[in-house]
Amino acid sequence: MPSAGSVDNFLSEIRHIDTSETYNEALYRQNQTVFFPPPVGPYIKCPSIRAESVDYFPAFLELKNKSCLLVGGGSVASRKVESLIAAGAAITVVAPELDAKLQRFVDSGRITHRAGRFSPEDVKGQWLVVNATGDSQVSNEVFAASNAARVFCNSVDEKTRCSYVSPAIIDRSPIVVAISSGGAAPLLVRKLRAQIETALPARVGQLASLASEWRGKVKNRISDLLGRRRFWERFFDGAISNDVLAGRMSSARLNIARLLRDAAGSTDQQGEAWLVGAGPGDPGLLTIRALQLMQSADVVVHDRLVSKAVLALVRRDAELISVGKTPGCQSASQEEINGLLIRLVREGKRVCRLKGGDPFIFGRGGEEMEALATAGLRYQVVPGITAAAGCAAYSGIPLTHRAMAQSVVFLTAHGKDSLDRLDWPSLARDRQTLALYMAVRRFQDIRDKLIEYGRSPETPIAIIENGTSDQQRVIHGYLEDLTDLAERHDVVAPAILIVGDVAEFGIGKEWFESPPVIQQPETPALVATR
Ligand SMILES: C[S@@+](CC[C@H](N)C(=O)[O-])C[C@H]1O[C@@H](n2cnc3c(N)ncnc32)[C@H](O)[C@@H]1O
Repeated sequence: MPSAGSVDNFLSEIRHIDTSETYNEALYRQNQTVFFPPPVGPYIKCPSIRAESVDYFPAFLELKNKSCLLVGGGSVASRKVESLIAAGAAITVVAPELDAKLQRFVDSGRITHRAGRFSPEDVKGQWLVVNATGDSQVSNEVFAASNAARVFCNSVDEKTRCSYVSPAIIDRSPIVVAISSGGAAPLLVRKLRAQIETALPARVGQLASLASEWRGKVKNRISDLLGRRRFWERFFDGAISNDVLAGRMSSARLNIARLLRDAAGSTDQQGEAWLVGAGPGDPGLLTIRALQLMQSADVVVHDRLVSKAVLALVRRDAELISVGKTPGCQSASQEEINGLLIRLVREGKRVCRLKGGDPFIFGRGGEEMEALATAGLRYQVVPGITAAAGCAAYSGIPLTHRAMAQSVVFLTAHGKDSLDRLDWPSLARDRQTLALYMAVRRFQDIRDKLIEYGRSPETPIAIIENGTSDQQRVIHGYLEDLTDLAERHDVVAPAILIVGDVAEFGIGKEWFESPPVIQQPETPALVATR
């Protein structure tokens, strides 16, 4: 088990991930996520970031010259035979008789026909079985025999007799896009296929073939992995790709040779850090820039508050490092995170430091930027939608309103000292909205201070928990009841507290899917929604 706290140890752990079974290694294999620093003590499983369960494991099968069985000789079978022929399979069709199309394939020697009814013996030695009889008794037999022989079987339009499903295909070979709903929504699959068809350039397959042609040369000329990754990014993003998609193959080849010459001569792989705001949870609230950077990062260093739905949009082969507090795992200190960022950037990596909300609003983005600047490293900052703005919008609460609030103050209530340092007389004034972050454990103090300094006990408040996510809860009430409300409804972090008349204005204006889960009939103004 690695020791916690050392950036060097940690980095060597993740670099040599295949040398020993470490905690992070196991997580890496399962979820492609590592936790920083790795936990000390017994092996504790932390929540999966990317691994969700799926009904079907997606794969593309290489069937060239492999025996495959097609059961049935009618029109469905003849539709299915073409995709098997296209894949180069050695096909035997079993059916008492064949339709004209299948017969032509038999006559031309492309497929073999065994005339007769299906027998379990037919499955022996096959790699794949397609059952296109449409006869439930035969289907049962084919499926049972296939399972017994451990051969994957697809019964056309009979989901319960399938051990694999055939996806809808968009073929721009060698680029093939497969879409499946696992039989849940075939019409939706058709619509998606049509959309992807139009979005996918006609010559994308040629682009892939050209890349394949050059792969060996690139590997020989550029020895390091990161350098090769950069080369391929330029290949697919720039002039070369434009040339190919426009059909200018000779110009593309010239450009490739030039790019390879430049890349092979360059030893400089400049890294960069991007401090990116991931918003409060709903991935739809990411900025376009955030998404672009998440898609091009080598490493993504993220907080716990960055939602799973957002992390799912990170480039699949980017390394994910969690530096947030996870139950059972230690969290990294700010110095350790700064050190980690600096080290990764110095290694030439493009590091996306993904933070919940906005990096510069209670996100310690300023400290990370300062560390990077002091180290003389390149960085960019991408703002995100801060929790107060996101949560308020998703609860129908305008943070300002001409009739109720002319200003809004963002505050953090993290730690006793931060509360003591606040200017309570000014915060207690009317006609302003307060948005309190990290306040859940300080509700009593906040309530007492505001009332002590003159804010009316009847000032409306709203607590928004897990705002913008499917778990969003909004609890409305009055300042004097703040602590009771939070206790009664078991409010947990992350939650934002909004104080001011605008909170009440939001009641009845909820638009985000939020069926009420708690009603307070005796005090109609109090509504908790989810
Ligand atoms: C360390 S601060 C980070 C704030 C972040 N940089 C931002 O701009 O939103 C964490 C606090 O933000 C608030 N927060 C973040 N996401 C939230 C969400 N989805 N719902 C409610 N509050 C949230 C909570 O008050 C939480 O304790």
